[in-house]
Amino acid sequence: MTDPAPARLVVLVSGSGSNLQELLDASADPAYGAKVVAVGADRDGIAGLDRAAAAGVPTFVAKLKEFATRDDWDAALTALVAEHKPDLVISAGFLKLVGPAFLAAFGDRYINTHNALLPSFPGIHGPRDALAYGVKITGATLFFVDAGVDTGPIIAQVSVPVLDDDTEETLSERIKVAERAQLVEHVGRLVREGWTIAERKVRIHERQR
Ligand code: GRF
Repeated sequence: MTDPAPARLVVLVSGSGSNLQELLDASADPAYGAKVVAVGADRDGIAGLDRAAAAGVPTFVAKLKEFATRDDWDAALTALVAEHKPDLVISAGFLKLVGPAFLAAFGDRYINTHNALLPSFPGIHGPRDALAYGVKITGATLFFVDAGVDTGPIIAQVSVPVLDDDTEETLSERIKVAERAQLVEHVGRLVREGWTIAERKVRIHERQR
């Protein structure tokens, strides 16, 4: 039996793209079952776009300020992503909340990785907020995006200790190591095995793709 075509991943980034890099590296192995077919961003000049270019992956940029309204930006982003016919869309450090058009098109297959153990510390300062609160354990959460801020059904979580002398930077970096491994493992499982969501519970199937 021939292997099925790899699942098509579109990855959205706003920054360094180290999560993207891990996906690019993993998908070099045909057994992974997925490949990154495009990388989108909300800004120019970021390492994430350079990483995509270095891997020969097409890129696109949709800057919010270049559109009259947020809905116009959302529609444009939706169209840009749709061009690449993704099986899964991955927000990997993408710092924009998408809107209704995007969720209508991809809400059943748009996932995000967050650098805290949700529902604690949502938003863009997960490690800083965890440190300020004084928790001893934090981590990373992979979830399906819904219309809220970091509120969607959870796919996986990994815990990371907070050390006494941590700064926001040291804690963020420790989280990112665990976060990248979690992302690669679960994206692979999602595309190879399929999934269902019932009453917020995400179940990855055991069958082979
Ligand atoms: C990740 O820790 C993500 O959770 C947070 O931003 C970071 C992105 O890192 N929102 P990178 O751009 O993948 O290196």
